[in-house]
Amino acid sequence: MPIPMSVTSSVSTKNLPVVPRYKSLLGSMLLAANPIPILNSYLDTYGDTLILYIGGVRPTLLTRDPGLVQHILQKNHRNYPKSEFSHGIARYLGHGLLTSEGSYWLQQRRLIQPGFHRQRVAGLVEVMQAEINECLKPLERQLGQEEGAVEVAVHKLMTNTAFRIIARSTFSTNINNAELEQMSALLTAIQAFYVRTIRQPYLRPWLSLRNQFQQHDKLASELREMVRGYVRQRQQTAGSYDDLLQMLLDVRYEDTGEPMTEEQVVDEALILLVAGHETSANALSWMWYLLAQHPQVVTRMRTEMTQVLDGRSASFADLPNLGYSLQIVQETMRLYPPAWIVDRVAQEDDSYNGISLPKGTLVSAYLLGIHHAPSLWQDAETFRPERFAPEQMKQQPPYAYIPFGGGPRLCIGNQFALTEMQLVLLEMLRRFEVDWVEQPPIQLQPLITLRPRQEIRLQFRKRS
Ligand code: HEM
Repeated sequence: MPIPMSVTSSVSTKNLPVVPRYKSLLGSMLLAANPIPILNSYLDTYGDTLILYIGGVRPTLLTRDPGLVQHILQKNHRNYPKSEFSHGIARYLGHGLLTSEGSYWLQQRRLIQPGFHRQRVAGLVEVMQAEINECLKPLERQLGQEEGAVEVAVHKLMTNTAFRIIARSTFSTNINNAELEQMSALLTAIQAFYVRTIRQPYLRPWLSLRNQFQQHDKLASELREMVRGYVRQRQQTAGSYDDLLQMLLDVRYEDTGEPMTEEQVVDEALILLVAGHETSANALSWMWYLLAQHPQVVTRMRTEMTQVLDGRSASFADLPNLGYSLQIVQETMRLYPPAWIVDRVAQEDDSYNGISLPKGTLVSAYLLGIHHAPSLWQDAETFRPERFAPEQMKQQPPYAYIPFGGGPRLCIGNQFALTEMQLVLLEMLRRFEVDWVEQPPIQLQPLITLRPRQEIRLQFRKRS
């Protein structure tokens, strides 16, 4: 999960083009609304790596150079912890994998990693399918009553689906529908507030005067207490569970043989909900947006589905034979990477290819910029899942495609996410036809993740 564009820093980085402060200042209002067009224009003007004074104050190194991003995330990752902007959200969400650092992070990562092994994800497919089915029921019902097509608010439907999938994969049946909705609303409110405080720091005194920080602390503790409730409930329930919460409760530290404390389990469960919710929801929404405009891609997908599935739902074992579904998901996340930017800060002086990176340099690895770079992608703006055919991808340089980040902090949920997205795609195409509805182009809303600014409206019809 990425962090929103940041605002302050204190370093002079030589050898790099600098966007003049006055330009940065003029752009800062636009940056708060939607940074993407303005960042793209700076990169097109000044080159793939530059210095930018966001908010006119602290310089940030912005880059779409895959080599430099690999240097920071992987080759010299020890020198580049996450910045204070990533850590700041810990105030509301606690210290789980996403927000922790150093030896504590490593210990937790080693502990939790096996829980995301392919086979563990395979064990969650039944839950995923059940939730997809549940989320599609209202649409099925509507289509049963009305002949023809039904217009669907796709982002709403996909947000609901992705949230239910991660929540039930974590807490199984302990959680009812009203609680699911309450949790989702709390998470959305907290994240939106946090992004505001980062992007528009000048609003902080006003927000403080209006007690907004305390109010959001209260929402955060409400959310935390909900999660704690599920953890306690589970500890008191007999029975076998195969979900992520049980995995967190069952793991033991190698050196002591001890389990995590309740506080740690709450932290990690909460972070899984946060990291695994909006990311997948947005990717799925953009996927339908693209598919409805590219019927030839849907046709090719259906041909593969007929060969492999012959009308039935896909199982985990089918997925390797449905390679085109993966390519569709991958190409969607190239054009619309849910984690559109990733922040780090240099701990010590460093350099890369003649670029000096003094201690304290704030680095924004601009994943969206890499995924759209014409130097890396032919017809970069065209939706073409064929480019992810395995032989084609071998020709891409490392780090040209990194929707899940890279290096040791690579998304731990990547297998989970790819599986859930393929299943949603396949199940919906099995049941419905999707049609484009005339609407103005949907704009980007890059908050913590890359959301569509407006609702995506598409028509769905029952397949005959
Ligand atoms: C399309 C879906 C997803 C995308 C694009 C995505 C992207 C990312 C990225 C880019 C990072 C690294 C951030 C950084 O280096 O600063 C990350 C980390 C993480 N993701 Fe995901 N993610 C997705 C889904 C999920 C899911 C479903 C889960 C949980 C089930 C999850 C859990 C995490 C966690 C816990 C981390 C922190 C890992 C660590 O630092 O050790 N993500 N994700």
